[in-house]
Amino acid sequence: MGNLANAAKLHHVIEAQQFDVPTLARLFEQAGEMEKIAARGGVNDYSNRVMATLFYEPSTRTRFSFETAMLRLGGRVISTENAAAFSSAAKGETLEDTIRILNGYVDVIVLRHSEVGSARRAAAVSKAPIINAGDGAGQHPTQALLDLYTIRKEIGALDGLRIAMVGDLAQGRTVRSLAYLLSKFKDVRMYFISPDLLRMKEDILDHLREHGVRFTEETDLERVLPEVDVVYQTRIQKERFGDRIADYEQCHGVYVINAGSLRLMKPRAIVMHPLPRLDEIAPEVDGDPRAAYFRQALNGLYVRMALLSFLL
Ligand code: CP
Repeated sequence: MGNLANAAKLHHVIEAQQFDVPTLARLFEQAGEMEKIAARGGVNDYSNRVMATLFYEPSTRTRFSFETAMLRLGGRVISTENAAAFSSAAKGETLEDTIRILNGYVDVIVLRHSEVGSARRAAAVSKAPIINAGDGAGQHPTQALLDLYTIRKEIGALDGLRIAMVGDLAQGRTVRSLAYLLSKFKDVRMYFISPDLLRMKEDILDHLREHGVRFTEETDLERVLPEVDVVYQTRIQKERFGDRIADYEQCHGVYVINAGSLRLMKPRAIVMHPLPRLDEIAPEVDGDPRAAYFRQALNGLYVRMALLSFLL
């Protein structure tokens, strides 16, 4: 896929590494404009364009925000929220054939699938842009885009950032994509805090070493909390453990952000989470101004509007 010299070269969006810093800057500038457009109810720029959301895994934010983004831009949407059951995948149709068929119907395809590499397979047979909305434990690049947009908006800068990524780092596609994107900025320091079974994978750690990004792997969240600008909490993803129930039970509930955590954090630091959350952020945190996760989810609408406007 390679790095993109500029936004004009964006076609398929498969992995976070595709985005360079100038492209991110233009995307975020456009997302700022989209905030104003969304506040006015939208525009009618893409009335002859159709987007398909092809989701083989459950979603609240990604599917609804992409669909809202297209509608606010004046485009139209076709959707299957459970493609495994309600598309002809249930009869044995391959992903590639489904994508070939959708190419005759739509202008852009947003794909969520349970298999790592599925978005790349789809892109290989698709003229219409494929947007990876999560491929198993692989990547979730548009989540990383909205995460970066949120950090920039809330903290003011990305250079010099100190961020703790917490929880399911081995199977978490959001933290993988975010680590790739943050590695493009200066003097970023990452703290990876997870149960031993869910440590960040070596491919990401190797990438950070190659790019001179400082990181440490930690187990003591309380020690790290006073040092960071962002606490990026994640859910322990039960669905990725299969029948390893004992492993899930061992990892679940180890790291929880609560009122005590807030007392240790800097006054201007923020708590983020890609959501959905279970009990890894206590509800008592929601009322604190540093709880940024609902603002983060809203930013997904603006960033996806900006991304669609680039691709269309
Ligand atoms: N953050 C995220 O991908 O949420 P959904 O699974 O609800 O789309």
